[in-house]
Amino acid sequence: MLVNGQARRGVFLDADGRSVVVIDQTLLPHRFATRQLETLDDAIDAIRHMWVRGAPLIGATAAYGMALAMRVNASDAGLAEATARLPAARPTAINLAWAVERMAALLRPLPADARSAASLAAANELAEEDVAINGAIGDHGLAILRALAARKAPGERLNILTHCNAGWLATVDWGTATAPIYKAHDSGLPVHVWVDETRPRNQGASLTAWELGNHGVPHTIVVDNAGGHLMRNGMVDCVIVGTDRVTANGDVCNKIGTYLKALAARDNDLPFYVAAPSPSIDFAIADGAEIPIEIRGEEEVTHLTGMTREGRLETVRVTPEGSPALNHGFDVTPARLVSGLITERGVCAAEAGALAAMFPDRVVGG
Ligand code: MRU
Repeated sequence: MLVNGQARRGVFLDADGRSVVVIDQTLLPHRFATRQLETLDDAIDAIRHMWVRGAPLIGATAAYGMALAMRVNASDAGLAEATARLPAARPTAINLAWAVERMAALLRPLPADARSAASLAAANELAEEDVAINGAIGDHGLAILRALAARKAPGERLNILTHCNAGWLATVDWGTATAPIYKAHDSGLPVHVWVDETRPRNQGASLTAWELGNHGVPHTIVVDNAGGHLMRNGMVDCVIVGTDRVTANGDVCNKIGTYLKALAARDNDLPFYVAAPSPSIDFAIADGAEIPIEIRGEEEVTHLTGMTREGRLETVRVTPEGSPALNHGFDVTPARLVSGLITERGVCAAEAGALAAMFPDRVVGG
């Protein structure tokens, strides 16, 4: 998608064909800066320190991380090391383990001297696939948005609420939850997005708002607690969020606070859709209770970072010294609250049978 009119992707291979380029998302929206990843450790750092974040982008970066590892040590030991260390960088998004296992399965049978070139080609392929998947999610989601818009007065704006950043910054391109929104906007449908700020790291206020603004999509940032009020007052037509992991029964794990939006949507009879690319679906786990939920540092809650009027990035404490904080990164929305999963193959009920019918090739033991 566009940054200052220039097309950008969340991760890509540098023109030198050696290093991998990512956007340092910890600096947005204040500074746009890229980082070069040269080694396995760089890729792990990028994921762990959240220069890259968002389930699909974590997966694609990990795939490139495997390629960086293979360039240095393509022995069986080197492959085993990369396969073990990358998934430990962040626990919740299944795309990470999925991408690493897909790469490892391809590389294990190959002779060591073929692994470097093969891993680079495979990482590029996985990244291109991500773009295609998200594009298809955009098409299926666009049909939903068109149907909702048809119920409104001609020209009246369609209000979509989203949580966290499931935008292009969270993927290689398009985003998942934002793909239908970009396609709707580009096709002339008058859309407006309520952007949840998404404390504690503010991915909505910092990232979603930034990318929607760059693409010219009308949007308004609201505090996380505003969603219920907006819904009760007829100011929301539907909710679309992304996901870090959907389990076999259709439970949806996503950024902390997603569950509360689903509850509010249900109480107000509003559709609550989840944009769910197939690499985010974990058929090996029966339900959401089994998903490892990342617990992050207290300082994300106790401190805030922003830019001063003088243009300095500063971090300040906003809580009393000594008050402890608890920081679960994600929550689980039960399948019964989900109106539908927007996948690359079409819209699917959040239910075991429907998911298995949509993805028979992915069902474990099926
Ligand atoms: O902690 P983050 O920023 O990696 O969390 C991101 C989310 O929760 C996204 O909604 C999810 O990964 C889907 S991204 C298409």
